[in-house]
Amino acid sequence: MADYAAVTKAVIPAAGLGTRFLPATKATPKEMLPVVDKPAIQYVVEEAVSAGLDDVLLITGRSKRSIEDHFDRAYELEEALRAKDDTDKLALVRESSELAHVHYVRQGDPRGLGHAVLCAAQHVGSQPFAVLLGDDLIDAKDRLLERMIEVRQRYGGSVVALMEVDPEQVSQYGCASISPTADADVVTVTDLVEKPVPGEAPSRWIVIGRYVCDPAVFDVLRETQPGRGGEIQLTDALKTLAGDDFGADRGGGVRGVLFRGRRYDTGNKLDYLRTMVQFGCERPDLAQEFVPWLRKYLDDLR
Ligand code: G1P
Repeated sequence: MADYAAVTKAVIPAAGLGTRFLPATKATPKEMLPVVDKPAIQYVVEEAVSAGLDDVLLITGRSKRSIEDHFDRAYELEEALRAKDDTDKLALVRESSELAHVHYVRQGDPRGLGHAVLCAAQHVGSQPFAVLLGDDLIDAKDRLLERMIEVRQRYGGSVVALMEVDPEQVSQYGCASISPTADADVVTVTDLVEKPVPGEAPSRWIVIGRYVCDPAVFDVLRETQPGRGGEIQLTDALKTLAGDDFGADRGGGVRGVLFRGRRYDTGNKLDYLRTMVQFGCERPDLAQEFVPWLRKYLDDLR
């Protein structure tokens, strides 16, 4: 195995305006919307930590203070719970503040995902790093990020996570042209297109919200012009790194891990509802009552 630098840092962009969830997101960041009883962003930070990345940089923006409060101590609340001897709730409150070394940088201008990632350049330095998008929750049992880090250790360059979807869904995502490698779940990415117009997608393999990037991506992002939606796209920078002009000696090369596990999309209202129901059905403390109730509710709907 080549001697590539270890991945130790995670970058989580959380500066978006959350307009798909208005009015809930007027004063609350969409990352703080709960999935059952935890804010969505806590699941993402937990995933990074369980992949061994406990240095987490959140890219935030205006009106995101509650995210910082969530990962900080809450002395008054802790005191009140301690006074009541409520150790279970005290543990829940403290958990998020003890999870990781969480750092923050603000993205002044909302100029796209690529620009958000570029805001991490100084914190990340010259090490490879992971990017986790909060709209996608990946089932902890599927260990996708660990696999992506292994692939980076083996091949160098950058790594994206790919999922196969129905053709009519492809234009909502970044889409990859791929060719096989010796590993059944790993492909070489030969091209990437951000949100291809229907009929022009190179495949049915879409990029989901997990990346391991070579630090070379920062220099490329600095040169990347606004693309789809007038925004600086991470997909466009990775396309450059996947191209022939960018050799492995310069941090080029993009691999894809083919993911067949469970991804929960929380990016829009309908998918958020689905996620909530799925999580509710799988929570040991809730499922026993929730699942029979849900069955009966659906039967009554007929
Ligand atoms: C972003 C990326 C896109 C990717 C998607 C995954 O898009 O730009 O390439 O497929 O995340 O969720 P967004 O959902 O921010 O529009």
